[in-house]
Amino acid sequence: MEFILLIAISLIPAIVAASLPFYSKTEVTKALSLFLMFLCLWQIDIAFLYAYEFFSETLIGTVFRLFRIGPIMIMPLMYYFGYYLVKNNPEVKGYKWFFNRTGFYVLLSFSIIVYLVNFTNLGVTGYTVVPETDIAPQHLIPIYGTLNSTFLINILLVFINTFFLLNVTVKLNDHYFKVFYTKLAFGAVFVFLNGIISGFGVLPLYFSSFNSILVAILLFLGFFEMQSNKLNDANTRLSKQSSLLETIMNINPNYLVVLNKDHHMIRLNDSICHLLSIKKEDMLCKDFSKLKQDFALMIEDNSLQRIMRPTGEVHFVQWGFKDLELNDEENYTLFYGVDFTNQKENEELLLSTEKTKVVGELAASIAHEIRNPLTTVRGFIQLLSERNINSEHEHIILDEIDRIDEVLKELLLLAKPEAAISQTNPDDLKIDVMQEISNVKLLFEPVAHEQNKQISIINKLPDHTFTKMQKSHFKQVMINTVKNSLEALSTNGCIKIKIDAFEECVRIRIIDNGKGISRKRMSRIGEPYFTNKEKGTGIGLAICFKLIKDYEGKMTVKSKQGWGTTVTVLLPKSERLAGDQERKHGDGAPVPF
Ligand SMILES: Nc1ncnc2c1ncn2[C@@H]1O[C@H](COP(=O)(O)OP(=O)(O)O)[C@@H](O)[C@H]1O
Ligand SMILES: [Mg+2]
Repeated sequence: MEFILLIAISLIPAIVAASLPFYSKTEVTKALSLFLMFLCLWQIDIAFLYAYEFFSETLIGTVFRLFRIGPIMIMPLMYYFGYYLVKNNPEVKGYKWFFNRTGFYVLLSFSIIVYLVNFTNLGVTGYTVVPETDIAPQHLIPIYGTLNSTFLINILLVFINTFFLLNVTVKLNDHYFKVFYTKLAFGAVFVFLNGIISGFGVLPLYFSSFNSILVAILLFLGFFEMQSNKLNDANTRLSKQSSLLETIMNINPNYLVVLNKDHHMIRLNDSICHLLSIKKEDMLCKDFSKLKQDFALMIEDNSLQRIMRPTGEVHFVQWGFKDLELNDEENYTLFYGVDFTNQKENEELLLSTEKTKVVGELAASIAHEIRNPLTTVRGFIQLLSERNINSEHEHIILDEIDRIDEVLKELLLLAKPEAAISQTNPDDLKIDVMQEISNVKLLFEPVAHEQNKQISIINKLPDHTFTKMQKSHFKQVMINTVKNSLEALSTNGCIKIKIDAFEECVRIRIIDNGKGISRKRMSRIGEPYFTNKEKGTGIGLAICFKLIKDYEGKMTVKSKQGWGTTVTVLLPKSERLAGDQERKHGDGAPVPF
């Protein structure tokens, strides 16, 4: 009867042990399951000593020896718990001298020896019957052999391991680990103390069985408490992290939209909502194509999009995609926009700074040029008022006035290209190369003349060869380079502007026989603010390179110190009428509002 009761009780730790891996499959859960399993085997071991009336002594003897694996193996297992904690928690690394891999294998080997000894007469020689007392029914107890001392050493080692485990446990930083492993260590000490007391007959043997159930349940509850507390902590941490990420995403000045694998928008940051004046809740879970269509987002061609907010504020944005692969099932895409408004403004500022300077300098010499025809005009008008009208003089007056007009128009175009463009049509993007270069020459002639320098044009292009570029931009490039050449020339120097066709391009070479550029300086040509002139800005060439590149052209500088410099500009020929929109430049980009 007692036997059946004890067997039933001993199964409780086994059930708990079997259920643990369903909740968690970590290394430590497996070790805990094993601990409870060994506890169960230990209790079955004891239960069989009460099976005197059911089985032969030989069978009981065999089962007892077999199931002794339980109490014996708990020893290396307790060591393993300590080893696991030391391995995974830096704050208890100091215990490595005691808890290490070698120690574990030594103790495991020792336990296996103890177990093997147990099968010989050196371990257990036979059994005696203990008669029934007031508190215990009749049962068997083993008679131990001479090497049973190894079993006693094994038990002593359990206490030593548990003692060190407790030492490690109290030094753990993780509160939940600390509580659980303390429970485990105390549970083990409690069960083994009971075992010893019962083994020496102070209390009946089965007494330890009841206690082991208590420990099993305690550990089971302790384990779940630890798991659920850890889970709660992880949840709180996760929600804090997610709101932190949300905040970071919102204050990010870039425009961000997260899309799921079906291309539905699952997150939008504040920046994009502000830019497009949309409400997050109106867009969430909607298909991304809606946003794309509603705002005509230029996603595919990698160019800067000009976006005007309803308030009139203009932004320049470049859009892009990035795949975010979290794991095999969850695939997200980040749609982002980088705001280049400031950069664009700086570029424009740079452009206008250089322009203002050039215009200022040119204006002085042009004023001089205007005064000459004006003097003539004035003289004739005076003459007209004094005498009768003489039609011979009329065309001279008109010619001079035309020249003034021509020069002023050029100056105006350079100073205020926007005004000039708005007056004209999209044809302004189509440049008659020869015509424009002649105009630039016209602009520089007074200065060149004054300094005794020559500017000549050698044109090999067929008449009316066009290239596609904004007139003011083209002019700015030509003025910058001709001006640089002029500044590099000594008196009597000359500049040749050669124009011809080269492959599919119009080639313009500005060749001077000035002082040239040294090899060392050559490597830094085109770098902004790189100048060797007292009043230079060093941005002229940087702007030229950028403008030419923007129009898919190419600009190169070749020079030899003391000999001169050649600047070559290649621009694609334009066959058709340039009525289409210029996309690379903000000025022509479509406005989605
Ligand atoms: N044709 C040229 N001959 C000699 N040096 C030149 C020529 N063109 C450019 N450079 C050199 O390149 C520098 C940068 O030119 P640029 O960017 O136009 O700035 P800046 O004219 O204000 O100095 C000049 O200071 C000059 O040293
Ligand atoms: Mg310059």
